[in-house]
Amino acid sequence: MFSTAFLDLPPLQGASGTVTLPGSKSISNRVLLLSALCQGTTVVHDLLDSDDTRVMLAALRQLGCGVDVAGTTVTITGLGGRAWPTEAIEFFMGNAGTAMRPLTAALAVQGGDFKLKGVTRMHERPIGDLVDALRELGCAIDYLGNEGYPPLHIGQPKLQLDKPIPVRGDVSSQFLTALLMALPLAAQDRAITIEVVGELISKPYIEITLNLLSRYGIAVERQGWERFVIPAGSRYQSPGTIHVEADASSASYFIALGAIAKGDGIRILGVGADSIQGDIRFMDAAVQMGAKITSGPNWLEIKRGAWPLKGITLDCNHIPDAAMTLAVMALFADGPTTLRNIASWRVKETDRIAAMAAESRKLGATVEEGQDWITIHPLPHRHFANALAKGQWQRASIHTYDDHRVAMCFSLAAFNADQLPVRIEDPKCVAKTFPDYFEALFSVAHTAAPNIPVICIDGPTASGKGTLASRVAAQLGYHYLDSGALYRVTAHAALQAGLTLEAADEAKIADLARSLPVSFEGEQVLLSNVDVTDAIRSEQGGMNASKVSVLPAVRTSLVDLQHSFQRLPGLLADGRDMGTVIFPNAPLKVFLTASAAKRAERRHKQLILKGFSANIDSLRADLEARDARDMSRSAAPLMPAQDALQLDNSSLTIEASVEQVMVWWQSRQVFG
Ligand code: DC
Repeated sequence: MFSTAFLDLPPLQGASGTVTLPGSKSISNRVLLLSALCQGTTVVHDLLDSDDTRVMLAALRQLGCGVDVAGTTVTITGLGGRAWPTEAIEFFMGNAGTAMRPLTAALAVQGGDFKLKGVTRMHERPIGDLVDALRELGCAIDYLGNEGYPPLHIGQPKLQLDKPIPVRGDVSSQFLTALLMALPLAAQDRAITIEVVGELISKPYIEITLNLLSRYGIAVERQGWERFVIPAGSRYQSPGTIHVEADASSASYFIALGAIAKGDGIRILGVGADSIQGDIRFMDAAVQMGAKITSGPNWLEIKRGAWPLKGITLDCNHIPDAAMTLAVMALFADGPTTLRNIASWRVKETDRIAAMAAESRKLGATVEEGQDWITIHPLPHRHFANALAKGQWQRASIHTYDDHRVAMCFSLAAFNADQLPVRIEDPKCVAKTFPDYFEALFSVAHTAAPNIPVICIDGPTASGKGTLASRVAAQLGYHYLDSGALYRVTAHAALQAGLTLEAADEAKIADLARSLPVSFEGEQVLLSNVDVTDAIRSEQGGMNASKVSVLPAVRTSLVDLQHSFQRLPGLLADGRDMGTVIFPNAPLKVFLTASAAKRAERRHKQLILKGFSANIDSLRADLEARDARDMSRSAAPLMPAQDALQLDNSSLTIEASVEQVMVWWQSRQVFG
C-alpha cells in the first residue's frame, strides 16, 4: 500500500496483463454480519481486507463473536443461540457505511446498551431515514449529536411488528439492506413486511442482499420493488463455507484501463459477467463507450475498441459507484458524456458530483453539473484531433477527499495525450476497498523508460547515501536501488567461487555478475536465497566491492541489472556512478558528501551499535583509501555528474537532508 502524502503517476502509455481483484466490500460486510447472526461456524473465503471490513470485524469481536483471521479466509462463530451482550459497548465505525447501517439495525432490533460513533465525515452522513424506520417498529435509538446523524445510542426495543414498516428508498439503499438483514432476528413467530416509500435507488445492491440472505436460509418475498416480506419462522442458517466474489466496482477501473490503454488487453480474475453485483453492468456502459469485452466464469478480458472513446448519455441509477469511472473515461471521448440519476453521489464518502467536477476541471476539462447529473466534455486527444488539439491537458494535483473511488478514477488520467504526470493526493485512501490498487495498476501499466523518474544519490562511502535515498524513496513511494550492494554481492560470490578479486579473473567475475541471483527483501540482501546481509555489509565486504568495481567488464555486466530497477512509479538509486553512467538522463542528481572525520565517526557508531569492535582512526584510513581507489579508477570514477546538486551533510540531520532533496525534487515537479 502507498502510505505516502502523495503519489506522482508518470505519464502512462499502455497496459497489458492479468490482475486478480480483491473481494467485494458490499458482499464482504454482508457476509460477515450474516455469519455473525447465525448459529455455528462459517468459513468465509476471499474476504476483502480493508478499512470497512476491519471495522466490522472489530465490532463483531466486541459483541462476542468468534473471529479467526487467516489471510483472506476468516472463520466466524456466530452469536445465534448464545447470550447477547448486556453490558454497555461503544463501537467505532470509522467512515464505514457498510458496517454502520446494518449494525445499527441489527443492534437496535436485538437491543442493548450500545453507542455507535465514527469519524467526522461519518457524523455528516445521514442515517435519519433508517432510524425513523427502526423507531417505527419500536426500537429505542437516540441521537448523541445532530438530529438525523451519527453518533447514536441504542437501548432496549419494544417491538411492534403487526403493521408494515415504512422505509425511504430514495436516499440510500443501505437502509433497506440494513432492515432486511436485521428483521429475521424478530421474525420467529410472525411475518414482517417492509414497505419502500419513494422510488428505490441502487436496486442492484438490494439484489445482492436478497441473494446473500437466501444463502443464509432467509427467503425474502419481493413484491415488485415496493414490498418485501420476511416469512414467519425465518432463521439464519450458516452456509458452512462461502466465497466472496471480487468487487465489480473495483473491476471498473481495469475495464476502463483496457478500453483506454494501448496493449494486448487486460484480463481480470475474480469476477465475471454473471456476477451477482449490480456494478458488473458497468461493462455495458464501457462497451457503449468503445471497450471490447469477453467474459467467462469469474474472468473478464478487455481490449481497446473504438478510439477515441464515444461520449454517451446514461441513466446511472443501476451502477452508482462504478459510474464514477465513466466520468473519467469521458475525458478520452469524442464528445460530451452525461451521467444522469446520480443524486446518491452527493451523500457518499464525499459529495462525489462536486469532487468529480472539481478535479476534472483541474485537468483542463469543461464540466457542467446539476443536483443529480454531470456532463463532462472530453479533452482533445492526439490520435484523432489536429495538432492544435494537443496541449489542453493540465498538470494536476488531484485532491481525493478521503474517497477511494476518486483516487482510483483519476489514476486513469495518467494516460493523457499530453504525457503529463498526475499527482494523486493521499493515495492510501484506496484502502477502503482496494489497498493494493496502485500496485495492481503498476503491474499492468507501462510507459517508456524516460517517463519513469530516477533520482540519483551518489557520493563517497559512509556519506549517508543509503539512508537518505531509502528515506526519500519511502516518502515518494518509489523503488530503491542500492547499487553498492550489487558490487558487494558480486565480490562475495566471486570469493565463494574461489576467484581472486584481481584483473586476472575479470572475465569470470563479469560472467558471475551478469546472472547474479541476487534479491532484496526489505533490508535483507539474498544471494541464491541465502541471507548474505551481514557478510557483505562488513568493512571487508566494502573493500572487496571496491576492488571488483575497478574492473570495467564487471561494471558493464551489472548495467542491465541496475536498469531493471527503473520501474513504475519511480526510483531512488544510490552509488558512485548513478548520475554519470547508469542514469545519465535522471531529472535529479544529488552528490552527497561529508567530511572524512564525520563519516568515520558515523561508521564507527554504526559498527558499535551492531556489536562490532572498531577503531575510529583505522576506519578513517580505510575510508580514505577506498575513496582514493573509487576516485582514481579509470572506469566510472567517483565524481559528481555535471548537473548534480552538491549536498554536504556533515552538520545536517538526516531529516534535514531528506527535506532538502524533497525541496529540490518538488521544485522540478510543479503540479497545478
Ligand atoms: O556504497 P557501498 O559502500 O556499498 O559501495 C561499495 C563499493 O562498491 C564502493 O567502494 C565502490 C563500489 N561501487 C561502485 O563502484 N559503483 C557504485 N555505483 C556503487 C558502489
